Amino acid sequence: MTDNSNIVKIDALGETKLFQPIKLGANTLSQRIAHAPTTRLRATEDNVPTDLQLEYYRDRAQAPGTLLITEATYVSEGGIGLPHTPGLWNDTQAKAWKKITQAIREQGSFSSVQLWHLGRTAFPEELKKRGLPFVAPSALYDSEEMEKRAKACGHELRALTKSEIEQLINEDFPNAARKALAAGFDYVELHSAHGYLLSQFLNPVSNQRTDEYGGSIENRARLLLAIVDKLIPIVGANRLGIRFSPWATFQVSKPEGAEIHSYILQELQKRADDGNELAYVSLVEPRVSGIVDVSAEDIHGSNDFVSKIWKGSLIKAGNYTYNAPKFTELVRDIDNDRTLVAWCRFFTSNPDLVARLQNGYPLQHYDRDTFYQPYNWGYNTWNKYDETKEYDEEAEKKRVGKALA
Ligand SMILES: Cc1cc2nc3c(=O)[nH]c(=O)nc-3n(C[C@H](O)[C@H](O)[C@H](O)COP(=O)(O)O)c2cc1C
Repeated sequence: MTDNSNIVKIDALGETKLFQPIKLGANTLSQRIAHAPTTRLRATEDNVPTDLQLEYYRDRAQAPGTLLITEATYVSEGGIGLPHTPGLWNDTQAKAWKKITQAIREQGSFSSVQLWHLGRTAFPEELKKRGLPFVAPSALYDSEEMEKRAKACGHELRALTKSEIEQLINEDFPNAARKALAAGFDYVELHSAHGYLLSQFLNPVSNQRTDEYGGSIENRARLLLAIVDKLIPIVGANRLGIRFSPWATFQVSKPEGAEIHSYILQELQKRADDGNELAYVSLVEPRVSGIVDVSAEDIHGSNDFVSKIWKGSLIKAGNYTYNAPKFTELVRDIDNDRTLVAWCRFFTSNPDLVARLQNGYPLQHYDRDTFYQPYNWGYNTWNKYDETKEYDEEAEKKRVGKALA
């Protein structure tokens, strides 16, 4: 796609800290730009990554030393929903991911897999088809529409039992983490943002349990911290990250807020002080909720509390282009030696985003209509700054992904 009428002019950031190396847990990155997790529905029906995804990630890894965090990837079959999203619970999926991590490594870049479970936002029809329960912290639907869907297909939401929670801690997350290592990922990221399962536990709107996993802040944070403690010896603290969105109201009526995150960050800092500092904490800035921008008057709070508690590395994402061409907010946020900035939407439409930011080449605006399509049009059809390749829309729409394993 080469729609030059739709560009964003930017100043070059090559002389800023964004282009200085930074240590991130087990590795040193060449610059402080990361690819934020971006769900794109280009996996197979069996949740196996495809050749289209390989091409996508390889292109975005072209500036050596870039961190690419993958699209959200199912920790277990029980967490599924959206069609054509990838998983990492079986060997076929791990083999397919390995081809992608190798392609990223061949460019000199690094990969992190974002592990998720949809909980109450899963697709009841799909779970029923696969003979799996529709479960969440509590039997509280995220919308009337979801309730209708679950009732219509005769597969209603119920609260996870304690033994199912223990299975998540002791089997599902460790299994996916081991597969991630086998697949060659440099990091494993827990998706505790945006109203998916781990974030559902944090929020009293979705967690009204009366056992040790609900009620107080300590109880609501228990599952996440238990998973962290289980995964540290498996992947190593310096390869483990977590994503939070304290202020998002995506898929939930109230944000989680600062209080519970302050507690979790204190707990993570305690582990760091004991020699187990996580590779990073990833934060969604309040300027964005899920996949859309938040208008200034609807911003619920600030992430400033985070760096007062957590002393380790931070990855921040959320419409950093809003004050382009100068990027004043970004330049302020990276004025230290522990912050990376992650980009999602502009990385979709600029495979060479890193070079563009470095040199001040204009950014191609993203095309939201193509975000959630199953084919290649709008996916691997964006040119680098100096390319003029024309793509055939009809042909690319016929090109769907082939499983990598
Ligand atoms: C199409 C699309 C897919 C996304 N998928 C994910 C995802 O899988 N996991 C996640 O944590 N956030 C996801 N996000 C949120 C982004 O990672 C990011 O936080 C948000 O888009 C703000 O960054 P940006 O302004 O650079 O786009 C997605 C956003 C978009 C637009």
